[in-house]
Amino acid sequence: MTTVIDSEAADHTAEADAATWWRQAAVYQIYPRSFADANGDGIGDLQGIISRVPYLKGLGVDAVWLSPFYPSALADGGYDVDDYRDVDPKIGTLDDFDEMVAALHAADIKLIVDIVPNHSSNRHVWFQQALAAGKGSPERDRYIFRDGLGENGELPPSDWTSMFGGPAWTQVADGQWYLHLFASEQPDFNWDNREVRDDFLTTLRFWCDRGVDGFRVDVAHGCAKKLDDVLPTQAELDEISTTDGNHPIWDRNEVHEIYTEWRQVLNEYDPPRIAVAEAWVASAERRARYASPNELGQAFNFDLLEADFDPEQFREIVSTNLDEAKIAGSSTTWVFSNHDVVRHATRYGLAPLNGRKVKQGREWLLSGGTLPLDVETGLRRARAASLFMLGLPGSAYLYQGEELGLGEVADIPADEHQDPAYFRNPGVDPGRDGCRVPLPWTRDGESFGFGSGGAHLPQPSWFGDRSVEAEDSDPDSTLNLYRRALALREELQAAESLEWVDSPENVLHFRRPNGWEVVTNFSTGPVELPAGRVLISSGPVGDTLPGETTVWLRS
Ligand code: NOJ
Ligand code: CA
Repeated sequence: MTTVIDSEAADHTAEADAATWWRQAAVYQIYPRSFADANGDGIGDLQGIISRVPYLKGLGVDAVWLSPFYPSALADGGYDVDDYRDVDPKIGTLDDFDEMVAALHAADIKLIVDIVPNHSSNRHVWFQQALAAGKGSPERDRYIFRDGLGENGELPPSDWTSMFGGPAWTQVADGQWYLHLFASEQPDFNWDNREVRDDFLTTLRFWCDRGVDGFRVDVAHGCAKKLDDVLPTQAELDEISTTDGNHPIWDRNEVHEIYTEWRQVLNEYDPPRIAVAEAWVASAERRARYASPNELGQAFNFDLLEADFDPEQFREIVSTNLDEAKIAGSSTTWVFSNHDVVRHATRYGLAPLNGRKVKQGREWLLSGGTLPLDVETGLRRARAASLFMLGLPGSAYLYQGEELGLGEVADIPADEHQDPAYFRNPGVDPGRDGCRVPLPWTRDGESFGFGSGGAHLPQPSWFGDRSVEAEDSDPDSTLNLYRRALALREELQAAESLEWVDSPENVLHFRRPNGWEVVTNFSTGPVELPAGRVLISSGPVGDTLPGETTVWLRS
């Protein structure tokens, strides 16, 4: 017996028309400063990306999502933007950017760029003007400035803590305070200010005119704020519901006015440019609003990333998100790893602790990597999970290095960390540097082929075995698994739906409308291999389907 999830969706194949390419795309996230360093200064750059376009082509991805490449002091890895319409001179120029777009497009790879609307950097010209212009000025109104509490305003306007720990308000020379939900170098914009709105529309057009195919919208759910004269305490704020659009900061209903306007700009282009929201919201229904065709069009769902390697959780997540995407008129997104979380090859190798794997990864990092980690199990499960994901309807977002089965780096010396989360919350937040270590391209040599001038975060000795060079020639490597899977996915791609096929306990089995079947055995022992021709498997398969293994089948 089978359960039909949705068989009505229109057929979006690889040849689907230009306006819908994103619906089932495989999108590869590049964290530019850690990808490839062409000029040997230790920092990845745009020329490095250009030099690796053949690699991306060979991998078989449809698009690249480029994390921030704008001028930045790197107080938060580039999510502190000095100028939204330029390239960080440390990593390239606008000419390099144009060359990169051309090289990607020539390889038939689309480009999505990160845009950061909730906050700028404190070096942004507008913030500098706000500091100079003083209290009550139009310049200050572009940000969120307040007088402090206490007799002389010496106390912050509220006791709020930033997302990275530490206070969310910082005092400036004339005594006022500004709000920053993240690091103090990241002042929040005031989105009630028309100039702020208009400037972002200009920025969208600037990059669309330069040929980008879409945007990944950072902290999309945080831009609209309603801050009363008397602010709630942090404890009170934590108690306010985020389900009805009335929380003072998160996921307010008015935030959608912003993205409705953005959509009009994105639709000025042919084909319309796409956008994907990073929106951590309370429910599938709230998320669907960002993904509406009248707004950004797509939203990340982090459910698989937050789940254990567990068939019940996976099945529930898949069914819910396919339903949700249908309601939104969007396609769903899947993601296991990105630049903010412990890599999934490591998460899945950690011994069970209380709570979920993301948390366990943090515990493991805080232990300096001394808590038990079974690297082989982690990799086996990661490969099975990724092959499961690549068979699902919707877009798959991949993070650089996961195609190598790369694990998290735990042993970064304290004085070499870069992430503000590590510094602002000492001993509590391990930071995110462990997934941002520059990629290994070669088995050995200077920074494992990342560049000739070392790596800006230290690479461990085991990186060589997970390098592109080491994996390239090994038919069973994770790299070759991803390559084969992405090529087959392109060939097999089907309507955006699946039906679950009855399966033994601990096994998930689904079938796409064209007969493409995906079977994952989550248990550790073998189970019966369903009938069909095995197209690909995440590990060795004989007469049975071994534990922690995924196969794609065709009858
Ligand atoms: C989400 C980004 O993914 C993260 O890396 C960043 O620190 C915050 N937004 C703040 O911009
Ligand atoms: Ca460089």
